[in-house]
Parts: sequence; C-alpha cells; structure tokens
Amino acid sequence: MPVARIGFIGLGLMGRPMAKRLLAAGHELRVFNRSKGPVEELARHGAEAAGSPEEAAAKSDYTILMLPDSRDVRQVMLGERGVIHGARPGSIVIDMSTISPAVEREIHEFLKQRGVGYLDAPVTGGTIGAEQGTLAIMVGGDHEIFKKAEPILRVLGQRIVYMGPSGSGQMTKICNQISVALSLLGACEAILLASKAGLDLDKVIEVISSGAGASWQLAHLGPAIVNRDFRPGFKAEHLMKDLRIALEMGQEYNLPLLGTALMHQLFKSLAGKGEGALGTQAVIKVLEDLANHIVSRSSRGAEKS
Ligand SMILES: NC(=O)c1ccc[n+]([C@@H]2O[C@H](COP(=O)([O-])OP(=O)(O)OC[C@H]3O[C@@H](n4cnc5c(N)ncnc54)[C@H](OP(=O)(O)O)[C@@H]3O)[C@@H](O)[C@H]2O)c1
Repeated sequence: MPVARIGFIGLGLMGRPMAKRLLAAGHELRVFNRSKGPVEELARHGAEAAGSPEEAAAKSDYTILMLPDSRDVRQVMLGERGVIHGARPGSIVIDMSTISPAVEREIHEFLKQRGVGYLDAPVTGGTIGAEQGTLAIMVGGDHEIFKKAEPILRVLGQRIVYMGPSGSGQMTKICNQISVALSLLGACEAILLASKAGLDLDKVIEVISSGAGASWQLAHLGPAIVNRDFRPGFKAEHLMKDLRIALEMGQEYNLPLLGTALMHQLFKSLAGKGEGALGTQAVIKVLEDLANHIVSRSSRGAEKS
C-alpha cells in the first residue's frame, strides 16, 4: 500500500511494538504519549514527536489510539487539544484500546458529524502478537471505513474480523476477556493443587498443555507462575477493567456472569494490595492467600508462615 501518514497515541506495552511495526512497514508516524520516554524511543526509530493528540491527528490519514480505559480515550479524543480538534474530514481514527462499547458509540457519533471515520478495533494476542504482527483484531464501525483501514490493520494483525456496527469490536473483545479470565482461573487452581500435592509442576504444565485442559493462559503464564515471574505482559489492572466492562454489559443484557464476577473480585483484591500493575498471572497471589500455600517446585510446596 502507499505510504500513509499515521498519528499514534499511547505508547505502552502494546502501543510501542505496534508503532514500531508501522514504521518498519514504511509509514510516516507522529506519536504522542503521556510520559515522554516512549516518545523519545519511537523518535529514535524515525517517528516525529507530537505535542498533543490534536497535533498527532492534524496531518494524519489515520490516527490510532492504544490507551488504558474509557476515560483516557474520551479525554484524548474529546478533551482540550484532543484528536477531534485536529482530525481532518475524510481521515480515519482507529481505537485499538479495550474500552466500553457505549463510549465507542458516543465517540463514533461525534466524529461522524465532522466527516471523520471511526472504528473500534481492539486486539488480542499480547505483546508477542504486537511485536510479530500476529494480533487478532475485532472491528466495529461502518463497513466502508473498515475496508479503507484494512491495509493498515494488516500490518498489525493476522486475523482481522469485521464484527458489525460501532461498538461490536469492543463487545467481542469483552467476550474474549471473559474467556481469558476464566481459563486463567483454571490454570491457577490446577497449579495450586498440583503444588500442594507435591507434583512436578513443570511436568503437570507440559502434559496438561497437550490435552483437553490446554489453554494459552496455562501454556504462557503457568511457567511464569511457577518461576514467580510477575512482570506484566498484560497488567492485572487492565484485565480487572475489562471484567468491570463485562459486568456492565451483563447488567445491560440482564445476564448473570458468575465466573466473571468472581474473577473481578479476585483482581480487586490484588489491586487493593497495590499490585495491579503486575501481570495478570499475579492473581495466583490472592488464591495463595486463601489457600495459605505458596506455589513452589519443592516437593510439598510452601505453607505461608
Ligand atoms: N498488554 C496486553 O497484552 C494487551 C493485549 C490486548 C489489549 N490490551 C489493551 O490495550 C490497551 C493498552 O494496553 P497496554 O498493555 O499497552 O497498557 P499500558 O502499558 O498501561 O500503556 C498505556 C499507555 O497509554 C499512555 N497513556 C495513558 N493515558 C494517556 C493519555 N491521557 N494521553 C496519552 N497517553 C496516555 C500511557 O502513558 P504513561 O507512559 O504516562 O503511563 C502508556 O504509555 C488497554 O486497553 C489494554 O486492555 C492489552
């Protein structure tokens, strides 16, 4: 595709590698982030630094957002010096953060009135997917805008699925997060019991991962739990936010979401200990407190003193 001018806002764990892929594909990037360190890092890779979201959007054909929560997207889009003040009619804004579907629909309407296209296009596949361009991307918005933006999304993801009108991408992503959270709970409880029973944890993960109990969570986060590696690929506070949105959707559709509510409470407990910025696998710490047992490779595990 021809070189595109792209504004990129939000250079965290996901945004940084995604922006680098777009640069490596030959596109021109103007980047903005709350803290300046990641902007300087991207500038070293050839991006131009923007002084505000408005500036990042002003000369861009596409503006991409990769921010934490609904409040951040709303502020960056509609606030003072926000994207809405810079985006040109005919340009397209793509929000790839995971946020509330209702907020996406509201922003979609604001931009539509100004002739600017808007897509909600959240992703799954983690930081590895962001680095390798293998993300799955779920897109909501007008179909003709999706078709125009698809070549850009192809630089970032392998599986790109148009889900329907504005908000549909986020609704799909929230369903994904329910599945993520509950398979994480399964992986954690399996590892906890295996540890308490004195089984070989590496072998447990290996054999379960080749059968019907296999999951991405067990295969990728199981070894991290056993190694007590709680560095974030995906921050616990972000999954807690996704489960909050899921529960809001449950309210809207009058649907009980029992497992989702349980995992939301467990993550609340972790965040209450001041550990929300750890990786999602750190939820094991809450379960360990309940069990009075710390996962350990030693034969009978470790009782908490
Ligand atoms: N990590 C994953 O595996 C993963 C996978 C799929 C989807 N997601 C979703 O993708 C989104 C981003 O996740 P992440 O892991 O990249 O989060 P993150 O590491 O916390 O990064 C968020 C970035 O947004 C910046 N930011 C926050 N508020 C801002 C504002 N008002 N203006 C400009 N920049 C602002 C932060 O700047 P500072 O440097 O100042 O903090 C930070 O660089 C979230 O919605 C998350 O749920 C994450």
